[in-house]
Amino acid sequence: MLHRAIGIFDSGVGGLTVLKEISEQLPGEDLLYLGDTARVPYGTKSAATVQQYALESASFLVDRGVKLLVVACNTASAVALPALRGRFQLPVIGVIEPGARRAVSSRNRRIGVIGTEGTINSGRYERAIHALLPDAQVFSAACPLFVPLAEEGWAEHEVARLTAAEYLQPMIEAQIDTLVLGCTHYPLLRRTLQQVLGPQVTLVDSAAETACTVAALFREQGLARPEHGGRRSVFVTDVPTRFERVGWGFLGCELGKVEQVRIG
Ligand code: DGL
Repeated sequence: MLHRAIGIFDSGVGGLTVLKEISEQLPGEDLLYLGDTARVPYGTKSAATVQQYALESASFLVDRGVKLLVVACNTASAVALPALRGRFQLPVIGVIEPGARRAVSSRNRRIGVIGTEGTINSGRYERAIHALLPDAQVFSAACPLFVPLAEEGWAEHEVARLTAAEYLQPMIEAQIDTLVLGCTHYPLLRRTLQQVLGPQVTLVDSAAETACTVAALFREQGLARPEHGGRRSVFVTDVPTRFERVGWGFLGCELGKVEQVRIG
């Protein structure tokens, strides 16, 4: 049995980018991952619906005794964090604050943020950046086509480059020097985005920043239990076939057994 694992949830496969970073930074920790594949995508749904889905996903993990909850999904982090923190008596870490904290190292204070429609419409990244750097200029854009491109394995395809050039043109004109990748899928497009923006723009990977935040919290609060060995359990809410196939590209290694569960 998993002993006091870290619980991680996302709308689907994208949160594996966060799981991968956490496994690298905290290799001794047991991880429980839930992908709500029956109800993906969250990025196009209303805040109220995403909040309800997030509470149900989190309950599933909390019922399994996790010691900390990581909301890997940017959209759920953007709209459901206060509700989750109000409901559960354990630390809940989202991906927005860690990304914002890194973004404010911008030299020219012109910061781009890309994400799903839900994340961008929430204005959550913008507020988190302004709370840390009030005179920052934030340029936001929803980039919904990046999600299917990443899942199709086309992150470095010419189609992805053209799509990125179209989405990012206003940010190039605004001369941003930092871009926050505010969606679980976007780290896969890193090379394409860097090519389009040029080497002078720093890309902030919210998945990697979140793993750093979790590792720092573990050090501070003595939550780590390295003797319990780095096991991983993966659950999904629809049949796992597509998740297993696409997940490989996100994790870069075998997922292991993926179990279908009912939540809600
Ligand atoms: N995981 C979502 C996010 O990071 C992207 C996919 C979706 O729309 O559900 O916002």
